[in-house]
Amino acid sequence: MSNRRPLIAGNWKMNGLTKDGLALAGEIATRLNKVASPNCDVLVCPPMTLVAAIAQKAEGSKLSVGAQDCHMNETGAHTGDTSPVMIKDAGCEYVILGHSERRTDHKETNEVVKAKASAAIKAGLKAIICIGETEAERDANKTIDVCASQIKGSVPAESTAENTVIAYEPVWAIGTGRTPTTADVQEVHAEVRKALTEVIGAEAAKTRILYGGSVKPTNASEFMPLPDVDGALVGGASLKADDFWGIVDSCI
Ligand code: PGA
Repeated sequence: MSNRRPLIAGNWKMNGLTKDGLALAGEIATRLNKVASPNCDVLVCPPMTLVAAIAQKAEGSKLSVGAQDCHMNETGAHTGDTSPVMIKDAGCEYVILGHSERRTDHKETNEVVKAKASAAIKAGLKAIICIGETEAERDANKTIDVCASQIKGSVPAESTAENTVIAYEPVWAIGTGRTPTTADVQEVHAEVRKALTEVIGAEAAKTRILYGGSVKPTNASEFMPLPDVDGALVGGASLKADDFWGIVDSCI
Protein backbone atom coordinates (compact mmCIF):
# COMPACT_ATOMS: atom_id res chain seq x y z
CA MET A 1 0.00 0.00 0.00
CA SER A 2 3.09 2.21 0.36
CA ASN A 3 2.45 5.83 1.36
CA ARG A 4 -0.63 6.27 -0.82
CA ARG A 5 -3.78 6.77 1.25
CA PRO A 6 -6.12 3.86 0.45
CA LEU A 7 -9.65 4.38 -0.83
CA ILE A 8 -12.47 1.93 -0.20
CA ALA A 9 -15.24 2.72 -2.66
CA GLY A 10 -18.71 1.17 -2.76
CA ASN A 11 -20.34 0.92 -6.18
CA TRP A 12 -24.03 0.35 -5.52
CA LYS A 13 -24.78 0.00 -9.25
CA MET A 14 -28.54 0.06 -9.99
CA ASN A 15 -29.55 -0.80 -6.43
CA GLY A 16 -31.15 1.18 -3.64
CA LEU A 17 -34.36 3.07 -2.94
CA THR A 18 -34.55 6.15 -0.72
CA LYS A 19 -35.20 4.60 2.67
CA ASP A 20 -32.67 1.76 2.53
CA GLY A 21 -30.07 3.83 0.68
CA LEU A 22 -30.15 6.62 3.26
CA ALA A 23 -30.01 4.07 6.08
CA LEU A 24 -27.01 2.27 4.54
CA ALA A 25 -25.03 5.48 3.92
CA GLY A 26 -25.99 6.76 7.37
CA GLU A 27 -24.75 3.59 9.03
CA ILE A 28 -21.39 3.75 7.22
CA ALA A 29 -20.99 7.45 8.07
CA THR A 30 -21.78 6.76 11.73
CA ARG A 31 -19.25 3.93 11.98
CA LEU A 32 -16.61 5.99 10.18
CA ASN A 33 -17.10 9.00 12.40
CA LYS A 34 -16.38 6.84 15.44
CA VAL A 35 -12.85 6.29 14.09
CA ALA A 36 -10.76 9.25 15.24
CA SER A 37 -8.18 9.17 12.43
CA PRO A 38 -9.11 6.68 9.72
CA ASN A 39 -6.14 5.45 7.66
CA CYS A 40 -8.22 5.36 4.49
CA ASP A 41 -10.84 7.31 2.56
CA VAL A 42 -14.31 5.79 2.34
CA LEU A 43 -16.71 6.45 -0.52
CA VAL A 44 -20.21 5.36 -1.52
CA CYS A 45 -21.48 5.71 -5.08
CA PRO A 46 -25.28 5.36 -5.02
CA PRO A 47 -27.54 5.48 -8.09
CA MET A 48 -28.14 8.95 -9.54
CA THR A 49 -31.60 9.25 -7.91
CA LEU A 50 -29.97 9.16 -4.46
CA VAL A 51 -26.68 11.03 -4.82
CA ALA A 52 -28.02 14.44 -3.73
CA ALA A 53 -29.90 13.12 -0.69
CA ILE A 54 -26.97 10.95 0.40
CA ALA A 55 -24.45 13.75 -0.16
CA GLN A 56 -26.62 15.93 2.07
CA LYS A 57 -26.78 13.22 4.69
CA ALA A 58 -23.00 12.69 4.56
CA GLU A 59 -22.21 16.40 4.83
CA GLY A 60 -19.94 17.08 7.79
CA SER A 61 -19.09 13.37 8.11
CA LYS A 62 -15.94 11.58 6.94
CA LEU A 63 -17.88 9.70 4.25
CA SER A 64 -17.42 10.80 0.62
CA VAL A 65 -20.10 10.44 -2.04
CA GLY A 66 -19.74 9.81 -5.77
CA ALA A 67 -21.75 9.08 -8.90
CA GLN A 68 -21.37 6.11 -11.25
CA ASP A 69 -21.12 7.95 -14.57
CA CYS A 70 -21.34 11.42 -16.11
CA HIS A 71 -21.71 13.01 -19.53
CA MET A 72 -18.73 14.64 -21.23
CA ASN A 73 -20.52 17.99 -21.71
CA GLU A 74 -21.42 20.59 -19.08
CA THR A 75 -24.95 21.32 -20.35
CA GLY A 76 -27.02 20.82 -23.45
CA ALA A 77 -29.48 18.71 -25.38
CA HIS A 78 -28.64 15.27 -23.95
CA THR A 79 -31.90 13.79 -22.71
CA GLY A 80 -31.46 11.50 -19.74
CA ASP A 81 -27.80 12.35 -19.11
CA THR A 82 -26.18 14.07 -16.14
CA SER A 83 -23.25 16.47 -16.47
CA PRO A 84 -20.19 16.46 -14.20
CA VAL A 85 -21.05 20.01 -13.14
CA MET A 86 -24.47 18.78 -11.95
CA ILE A 87 -22.87 15.88 -10.10
CA LYS A 88 -20.49 18.26 -8.35
CA ASP A 89 -23.42 20.56 -7.59
CA ALA A 90 -25.30 17.62 -6.03
CA GLY A 91 -22.48 17.29 -3.48
CA CYS A 92 -20.37 14.55 -5.05
CA GLU A 93 -16.60 14.43 -4.78
CA TYR A 94 -15.97 11.45 -7.10
CA VAL A 95 -17.38 9.86 -10.24
CA ILE A 96 -16.78 6.30 -11.49
CA LEU A 97 -16.02 6.26 -15.23
CA GLY A 98 -15.59 3.50 -17.80
CA HIS A 99 -16.88 0.68 -15.63
CA SER A 100 -16.94 -2.52 -17.70
CA GLU A 101 -20.74 -2.59 -17.42
CA ARG A 102 -20.85 0.82 -19.12
CA ARG A 103 -18.22 -0.17 -21.66
CA THR A 104 -20.48 -3.16 -22.50
CA ASP A 105 -24.03 -1.84 -22.00
CA HIS A 106 -23.41 1.62 -23.46
CA LYS A 107 -20.56 0.81 -25.86
CA GLU A 108 -18.27 3.30 -24.12
CA THR A 109 -14.86 3.37 -25.80
CA ASN A 110 -11.55 4.49 -24.32
CA GLU A 111 -11.99 7.81 -26.17
CA VAL A 112 -15.39 8.38 -24.55
CA VAL A 113 -14.06 7.47 -21.10
CA LYS A 114 -11.14 9.85 -21.56
CA ALA A 115 -13.45 12.72 -22.61
CA LYS A 116 -15.69 12.07 -19.60
CA ALA A 117 -12.67 11.99 -17.28
CA SER A 118 -11.44 15.33 -18.68
CA ALA A 119 -14.88 16.87 -18.13
CA ALA A 120 -15.13 15.44 -14.60
CA ILE A 121 -11.70 16.80 -13.65
CA LYS A 122 -12.59 20.20 -15.12
CA ALA A 123 -15.75 20.21 -12.98
CA GLY A 124 -13.66 19.59 -9.85
CA LEU A 125 -14.53 15.91 -9.44
CA LYS A 126 -12.12 13.05 -8.84
CA ALA A 127 -12.39 10.52 -11.68
CA ILE A 128 -12.24 6.79 -10.85
CA ILE A 129 -11.25 5.33 -14.23
CA CYS A 130 -11.99 1.59 -14.55
CA ILE A 131 -10.05 -0.88 -16.67
CA GLY A 132 -9.81 -4.66 -16.84
CA GLU A 133 -9.59 -7.62 -19.17
CA THR A 134 -12.32 -10.08 -20.17
CA GLU A 135 -12.00 -13.78 -19.52
CA ALA A 136 -11.16 -14.45 -23.19
CA GLU A 137 -8.41 -11.82 -23.08
CA ARG A 138 -7.04 -13.35 -19.91
CA ASP A 139 -7.07 -16.85 -21.42
CA ALA A 140 -5.16 -15.46 -24.40
CA ASN A 141 -2.52 -14.02 -22.03
CA LYS A 142 -3.44 -10.49 -23.06
CA THR A 143 -4.22 -9.07 -19.60
CA ILE A 144 -1.24 -6.74 -19.39
CA ASP A 145 -1.57 -5.52 -23.00
CA VAL A 146 -5.30 -4.85 -22.63
CA CYS A 147 -4.91 -2.99 -19.34
CA ALA A 148 -1.97 -0.92 -20.61
CA SER A 149 -3.86 0.08 -23.73
CA GLN A 150 -6.96 0.99 -21.70
CA ILE A 151 -4.79 3.18 -19.46
CA LYS A 152 -3.17 4.88 -22.46
CA GLY A 153 -6.55 5.35 -24.14
CA SER A 154 -8.72 6.35 -21.17
CA VAL A 155 -6.54 8.51 -18.91
CA PRO A 156 -6.33 12.18 -19.92
CA ALA A 157 -3.02 14.06 -19.85
CA GLU A 158 -4.32 16.38 -17.11
CA SER A 159 -4.83 13.49 -14.66
CA THR A 160 -2.90 13.77 -11.40
CA ALA A 161 -2.74 11.71 -8.23
CA GLU A 162 -5.12 14.24 -6.70
CA ASN A 163 -7.86 14.19 -9.34
CA THR A 164 -7.68 10.60 -10.63
CA VAL A 165 -7.95 7.08 -9.24
CA ILE A 166 -7.56 3.92 -11.33
CA ALA A 167 -9.63 0.81 -10.64
CA TYR A 168 -8.40 -2.51 -12.02
CA GLU A 169 -11.40 -4.82 -12.30
CA PRO A 170 -11.01 -8.07 -14.26
CA VAL A 171 -14.39 -8.40 -15.98
CA TRP A 172 -14.55 -12.13 -15.20
CA ALA A 173 -14.16 -11.42 -11.47
CA ILE A 174 -17.04 -8.93 -11.22
CA GLY A 175 -20.00 -10.39 -9.37
CA THR A 176 -18.76 -13.96 -9.88
CA GLY A 177 -17.08 -14.78 -6.57
CA ARG A 178 -13.89 -15.53 -8.53
CA THR A 179 -10.72 -13.50 -8.05
CA PRO A 180 -7.21 -13.49 -9.48
CA THR A 181 -4.40 -14.65 -7.19
CA THR A 182 -2.70 -12.02 -5.09
CA ALA A 183 0.43 -12.49 -7.22
CA ASP A 184 -1.57 -11.79 -10.39
CA VAL A 185 -3.18 -8.69 -8.86
CA GLN A 186 0.18 -7.30 -7.76
CA GLU A 187 1.72 -8.00 -11.17
CA VAL A 188 -1.11 -6.29 -13.07
CA HIS A 189 -1.16 -3.29 -10.71
CA ALA A 190 2.60 -2.80 -11.13
CA GLU A 191 2.23 -2.96 -14.93
CA VAL A 192 -0.74 -0.58 -14.80
CA ARG A 193 1.38 1.87 -12.84
CA LYS A 194 4.11 1.59 -15.50
CA ALA A 195 1.59 2.32 -18.28
CA LEU A 196 0.22 5.21 -16.23
CA THR A 197 3.74 6.64 -15.92
CA GLU A 198 3.87 6.85 -19.70
CA VAL A 199 0.74 9.03 -19.62
CA ILE A 200 1.19 11.21 -16.51
CA GLY A 201 4.85 10.80 -15.56
CA ALA A 202 5.86 11.00 -11.91
CA GLU A 203 2.24 11.49 -10.75
CA ALA A 204 1.70 7.76 -11.41
CA ALA A 205 3.79 6.80 -8.39
CA LYS A 206 1.37 8.75 -6.15
CA THR A 207 -1.87 7.70 -7.90
CA ARG A 208 -4.15 5.20 -6.19
CA ILE A 209 -4.86 1.96 -8.04
CA LEU A 210 -7.83 0.07 -6.58
CA TYR A 211 -8.56 -3.61 -7.06
CA GLY A 212 -12.18 -4.55 -7.81
CA GLY A 213 -13.97 -7.81 -8.53
CA SER A 214 -15.60 -9.97 -5.85
CA VAL A 215 -13.90 -8.17 -2.97
CA LYS A 216 -15.41 -9.43 0.29
CA PRO A 217 -14.59 -9.01 3.98
CA THR A 218 -13.05 -12.50 3.79
CA ASN A 219 -10.52 -11.71 1.04
CA ALA A 220 -9.89 -7.96 1.49
CA SER A 221 -7.07 -8.57 3.96
CA GLU A 222 -5.22 -10.60 1.28
CA PHE A 223 -5.38 -7.90 -1.40
CA MET A 224 -5.07 -4.69 0.60
CA PRO A 225 -1.47 -5.16 1.83
CA LEU A 226 -0.08 -5.73 -1.71
CA PRO A 227 2.51 -3.05 -2.55
CA ASP A 228 0.65 -1.62 -5.58
CA VAL A 229 -2.92 -2.05 -4.30
CA ASP A 230 -4.29 1.17 -2.82
CA GLY A 231 -7.82 0.19 -1.90
CA ALA A 232 -10.86 -1.51 -3.39
CA LEU A 233 -13.85 -0.86 -5.62
CA VAL A 234 -16.62 -2.97 -4.14
CA GLY A 235 -19.92 -3.92 -5.79
CA GLY A 236 -22.11 -6.58 -4.16
CA ALA A 237 -20.45 -6.38 -0.75
CA SER A 238 -21.04 -2.62 -0.58
CA LEU A 239 -24.81 -3.13 -0.27
CA LYS A 240 -24.70 -4.38 3.32
CA ALA A 241 -23.20 -2.22 6.06
CA ASP A 242 -21.53 -5.15 7.85
CA ASP A 243 -19.92 -6.51 4.67
CA PHE A 244 -18.72 -3.10 3.48
CA TRP A 245 -17.44 -2.21 6.91
CA GLY A 246 -15.60 -5.53 7.05
CA ILE A 247 -13.65 -4.41 3.96
CA VAL A 248 -13.08 -0.88 5.31
CA ASP A 249 -11.81 -2.53 8.49
CA SER A 250 -8.95 -4.18 6.56
CA CYS A 251 -7.52 -0.70 5.84
CA ILE A 252 -8.64 1.47 8.68
P1 PGA B 1 -18.41 -6.96 -7.30
O1 PGA B 1 -18.42 -5.69 -8.30
O2 PGA B 1 -17.70 -6.50 -6.04
O3 PGA B 1 -19.85 -7.27 -7.07
O4 PGA B 1 -17.67 -8.04 -7.98
C1 PGA B 1 -17.32 -4.83 -8.40
C2 PGA B 1 -17.60 -3.74 -9.39
O5 PGA B 1 -18.22 -4.01 -10.44
O6 PGA B 1 -17.23 -2.57 -9.17
